[in-house]
Amino acid sequence: DKKQSLAGKKVIVSAAGTREPIDPVRYISNRSSGKMGYAIAEEAAQRGADVVLVSGITNLPAPENVKVIKVESARDMQSNIEQYFPDSDITIMAAAVSDYRVKEVAEQKIKKSDEVMTIELVKNPDILKGLGEKKTDKQFLVGFAAETQNVLEYAQGKLQRKNLDMIVANDVSQAQAGFNVDTNIAKIITRDGQIKQAPLMKKTELAQLIFDIIEEKMNIKA
Ligand code: C5P
Repeated sequence: DKKQSLAGKKVIVSAAGTREPIDPVRYISNRSSGKMGYAIAEEAAQRGADVVLVSGITNLPAPENVKVIKVESARDMQSNIEQYFPDSDITIMAAAVSDYRVKEVAEQKIKKSDEVMTIELVKNPDILKGLGEKKTDKQFLVGFAAETQNVLEYAQGKLQRKNLDMIVANDVSQAQAGFNVDTNIAKIITRDGQIKQAPLMKKTELAQLIFDIIEEKMNIKA
């Protein structure tokens, strides 16, 4: 059994991809598996935290001792996270949120007609950025950055822009660090400028490393 270092702490984790409806039978989504976020929620629960996992689309089983809230769209995810956020100590946004949604969702199934068909999209809210604007000094906020180039530079920019305490950056162009695999290769960057290069490891191991660093930065002693 693990040390109960997060006993009494309230943790929110988001995971997996969101799904944006086009009409009653079609949607736009992405390839996120949810594995990283589910591993993070499980690790937090094993350390004794009170965990809410706001999950997008995945077939992964609910981790033990975690309250799972299943959502579809980015806006559903946002309203559920915002409900728990004021009371939370640590929030980790590992979800792959759709950047855009369909402007007008059709009430009936769209019929095929012309050769070319256009769907108009509008921008979704940036959930993480909104949390960064609301957070107090006592709350610890973590984002993810999936990049294919200039990983460190882009991730550091996001950490600043979204007012985060930590960002976990990975190069998704590498086969062992992308979607739907059990491993990751990440750089963990904290607000103080510290960079930890995590070598190839299982997502469950990366989840442990993430909480080891969070506990150190929050001065949590087990
Ligand atoms: O800017 P980018 O989408 O690369 O930032 C990634 C981080 O922001 C992830 O932690 C992701 O969960 C979060 N995000 C969000 N809302 C969005 C887009 C991304 O919370 N609409």
